[in-house]
Amino acid sequence: MGVTPPDLRTRVGSVELPNPVMTASGTSGYGAELAPYGRLGALGAVVVKSLAADPWPGNPAPRVTEVGQGMLNSVGLAGPGLPAWLETELPRLSALQARVVVSIWGQRVSDFERVARLLAPVGATVVAVEVNVSCPNLEDRSRMFAQSASATAEAVEAARCGKPRWAKLSAAVADLTEIAAGALAGGAEALTLVNTLPGLSIDVERRRPSLGAGAGGLSGMPLHPVALRAVWEVRNAFSDTPIVGVGGVTSGREAIEFLMAGADAVQVGTAIFRDPRAPWRILAEIDRWCRRHHVGAVRDLVGVAQ
Ligand SMILES: Cc1cc2nc3c(=O)[nH]c(=O)nc-3n(C[C@H](O)[C@H](O)[C@H](O)COP(=O)(O)O)c2cc1C
Repeated sequence: MGVTPPDLRTRVGSVELPNPVMTASGTSGYGAELAPYGRLGALGAVVVKSLAADPWPGNPAPRVTEVGQGMLNSVGLAGPGLPAWLETELPRLSALQARVVVSIWGQRVSDFERVARLLAPVGATVVAVEVNVSCPNLEDRSRMFAQSASATAEAVEAARCGKPRWAKLSAAVADLTEIAAGALAGGAEALTLVNTLPGLSIDVERRRPSLGAGAGGLSGMPLHPVALRAVWEVRNAFSDTPIVGVGGVTSGREAIEFLMAGADAVQVGTAIFRDPRAPWRILAEIDRWCRRHHVGAVRDLVGVAQ
């Protein structure tokens, strides 16, 4: 066991973080929901559930179901809208000294513009904006923005609000590097890889899809190798682009895999449903792993498996 504590600090572009572990959007609510389980300020950052300019009802229940070691969800981006969040949740997060990444979504390019206008006055608690382009684009037959490099570029560009923009992409595309290039052309400072993959579960007793909306998004352990490959491939194509890895991080091991594949930081999502303390546990596991392997600084691991 090494005795010197490892330096856990990292950087996602211009955003300095005390450590590489964040929550993943949509898996711990809008604000301080996780605060009873640990100190939010001790995490790299808290990424809130995607918010639109207006309230949105989302999809019919049931919205989540277990599939093997993973989870399928069709929450459908239900939310209170950004103005209500700015009024009620942001001050609570700020009081808890959390670094906040606001995830935003829209159904048209102009929706991202509206959200950006609402975000322009926010203070230093919000360290970055994650532009969730893995949502249906009504101007393109409801195809995800993230399935088109030009639609991704337009949405990211429209979200310009004075904060660093991270584009959250989907692995359900033919060539992720092409979409990543679109996001960077639109002004993304970093890429968050990846969102859920499209999936389906059928309740064989009812002979109906298990989820109220039919299909859903696959997350958790089964997504991990897909997400890891996405990070590895994009890091290979864009060596200087900051990357946040997300998908199936359940222990320090998967987090370290992401770092080695080229991620500068990671997010923990589905694991929180099983263990709300997962982000802090995973952070402690990274620390222990570094001590055991005499790694002085977590940044020394970034991209070593390239
Ligand atoms: C219930 C649920 C809700 C989610 N909501 C959002 C969301 O609002 N915005 C978003 O960008 N991603 C959302 N995601 C995707 C996660 O942020 C993450 O990209 C994905 O679940 C993979 O990470 P994981 O395997 O650690 O969960 C959601 C995932 C789940 C399971």
